[in-house]
Parts: sequence; C-alpha cells; structure tokens
Amino acid sequence: MSSPPATEATAALPFHLSGNFAPVDDEIGVDELEVTGTLPPELSGAYVRNGPNPRRGPTPHWFLGQGMLHAVRLAGGRALGYRNRWVDAPTTANTSIVRHAGRLLALAETTPPIEVDAELRSLGPHTFGGALTQGMTAHPKICPLTGELLFFTYALQAPYLTFYRADAAGVLQQAEPIEVDSPTYMHDFAITERHVLFFDLPVLYRGWRDPEPIRWSESYGARLGVLPRGACGADMRWFEIAPGTIGHTVNAYEDGSTLVLDVVRGERLDAPTRLYRYVLDLERGTVDERPLDGRHVEFPRIDERRTGLRHRHTSVLELCDFANGAPTHTVLRRHDLETGRCTAHDFGPGRMAGEAVFVPAGAGAGEDEGYLLSLVYDRARHGSDLVVLDASNLAAAPVASVRLPRRVPFGIHGQWFADAA
Ligand SMILES: [Fe+2]
Repeated sequence: MSSPPATEATAALPFHLSGNFAPVDDEIGVDELEVTGTLPPELSGAYVRNGPNPRRGPTPHWFLGQGMLHAVRLAGGRALGYRNRWVDAPTTANTSIVRHAGRLLALAETTPPIEVDAELRSLGPHTFGGALTQGMTAHPKICPLTGELLFFTYALQAPYLTFYRADAAGVLQQAEPIEVDSPTYMHDFAITERHVLFFDLPVLYRGWRDPEPIRWSESYGARLGVLPRGACGADMRWFEIAPGTIGHTVNAYEDGSTLVLDVVRGERLDAPTRLYRYVLDLERGTVDERPLDGRHVEFPRIDERRTGLRHRHTSVLELCDFANGAPTHTVLRRHDLETGRCTAHDFGPGRMAGEAVFVPAGAGAGEDEGYLLSLVYDRARHGSDLVVLDASNLAAAPVASVRLPRRVPFGIHGQWFADAA
C-alpha cells in the first residue's frame, strides 16, 4: 500500500506486469473493513473476482498468470472481511468463478474447473465424475428456468467443439460433439429458453503454448450455430454472418420465431469491440446484424436472472485512453436497450474500474432495481475499493465504497454469491 504508483517505476515492463496489473505476492485475510456511505443491508453475500496473478516470476502474457481469487464479504450493512488466495491448478484457472449445485468453481478455458471452498481454498479439479477432461469455458450459463449448467469445451483435436449439459443437481446429462471445420478460439456462447448458440468465427486456434495461439483467417468465414436444447449435434443449424470476433455475450432470447443475440464484437482481431446485435429469423433462415453503439467497450453483464430470457439493460465497461496496450481509463455505462438511453459513471481522474456485476435489490426486484459492484483502482493511493452504485441512477455518487486492505490487481471476471435465503 505504501509503495509508489507503479506506472512510472515499471514503465519498461509489459502492461500485464506493471501499474495495477502487477501481481500481489501474498494471501491475506482481514476482518471488518472501512465503509464510506451506506452499504445496502440487502447486500448479504460475497463478491468474488478471479484474475491472473503470476506466482513464480514474470509471465509472457496476461492470460498465463496463475489465478487469484479476491473476496469481499458484505452483510447487514457492514463489510465483514476481505480474503485473497491463489487457485491451485495444474494450469491457470484464472478467468471467472461460478456457483452451481452448491459448488464454487474457478474457471479458465484451458483447464477443467477447480473447486474451491467458501474460504477460497482449492479442493482440486471438478471433472463431473471424470467425464470432463479438458478446459471448460469460463462462461457457462445457468438456465434460470431449469437450473441446468450449460457449457462447452474447444480443443485442438477432433471433436473441436463439445457441448455439455449438467442438471440442476450438477450431474452431467449430455456431452454432445459438434462438427466444425477447424479448431477456433471460442470464449463465450449463448442460450435462450429453447436453443443454444455457438460462434464459429475466423479466429483459428493453435494451442495456448503456440507462439501465436490464435490467428485471424481471411478465408474461414463466420457463422452462428443454433442447436435446439436437448437435440443432438447433427441438428445444428448454421447462419452465415459477417466475419468478426465475439469476445463476450451480453445475452440472447427468443422473440417469436426469431432469436435476438447481443454481444461485444470486433471487426477483426485487435479491433475495438462494440455492442452488437444479431437477429436470427428461424423461419426465413436470415440474419440481421448491426451495431448497437459505437463506443469501445468490454465486460458486458446483465441481471443474470434474465440469462436466456428477454433482457432490457446491460452494463459495459468503456475502455479509454490506451497506452502500452491497455486502457488507462474506464467509464462504466449502462444501456437501456428498449429506449436507447445510456447512463454512465466516471470514477474520476486516476480511478479505474473493472467489470461491474449486477446484484438485484431483492428477490422480487425488477431488472433495474439493484446495484452494480465493481473493484476500483485508485492510482494516487495505489490501492483498491469495492464500489457500490445504484444501477437505476448510475451517474449519482456511489451508494457505498469499501476500502480494501490491499491493492487488488486488475483481473477478469467477478461474481456475486448471495447468502442462501
Ligand atoms: Fe471472459
């Protein structure tokens, strides 16, 4: 905490080892944190975030650092504690965390899930009884209607793509090979009430140990795959689309005989990514595609009670002022996709937010009644806060800010785990 801002001191290092990307070197647990403002008492649970944090010296790429989990526990209007731990994994379970069927799973697409306990201690790989032998997407979907966990793996050897479905009890019920022409980099996918959507895009995958793990192809083409839930892989229907990359899914839903799919898309590798919408007409076999907004954004999140169902709002992180390959400023934005209205929260000079997670204000709360939680780095202090914003009044001052006992490096995806009712 007392070290100087690392931006200048470590300017010669690659971005992922300098400034607030620089790893922290220990595991700590601290009780009772200082809060500014008023923590809503309905926030009862833990915010947990995963991210690369190299443990054994510098890594050549941000994605290759060992995973570290950071957790902030809130209840009764108090910030009860902070804890961080590395994820012990054969490779790097450093991307996200999900809770399903009572299990907390740290995820990265390069490794089977690593189960962790409530104190973030690694319990070992969770392979669904040995059925899952390769990396699982860091973006599985939990269907709010069935409680199922839907996910996929991609691989260098055929089948290049496999779709999996575990029931609400966490028991694997389906492992469905899907035929595609080549291994491609597939970070995310989408579900609706009756379908699963895959993105077969011209980003060829050569393995993460390859000096050029992913490569843009001018000839591969681009298509969206639509598989009825419960069907076999041969029932996949493909829709040609304009070539591009899809980093993250916002959400997808059914609208009559069409499927609406919102994503963050780039024109090609390393191009700025923007909010984008596909409308697939299942009767006519056509796709309409168009940008929803022009800003360079990432980390889209919705109210996850709407996963696969019609959503109205999404939050995104606008990435600004790039230097040394990374943004030096972010603005949190929330889009009302019905009205086109966009609200924003700028955390101010020298304060940079990460992905924001939506937490509903209560079980019966609407999609816009809740809070956005984000870890914010304060460059002047070289420290971090967990900031709570009112999702329906984003431009307002934070509802509360929790001063964390240590700097939390920029990471990837977080999640809120509400205490059981
Ligand atoms: Fe991701």
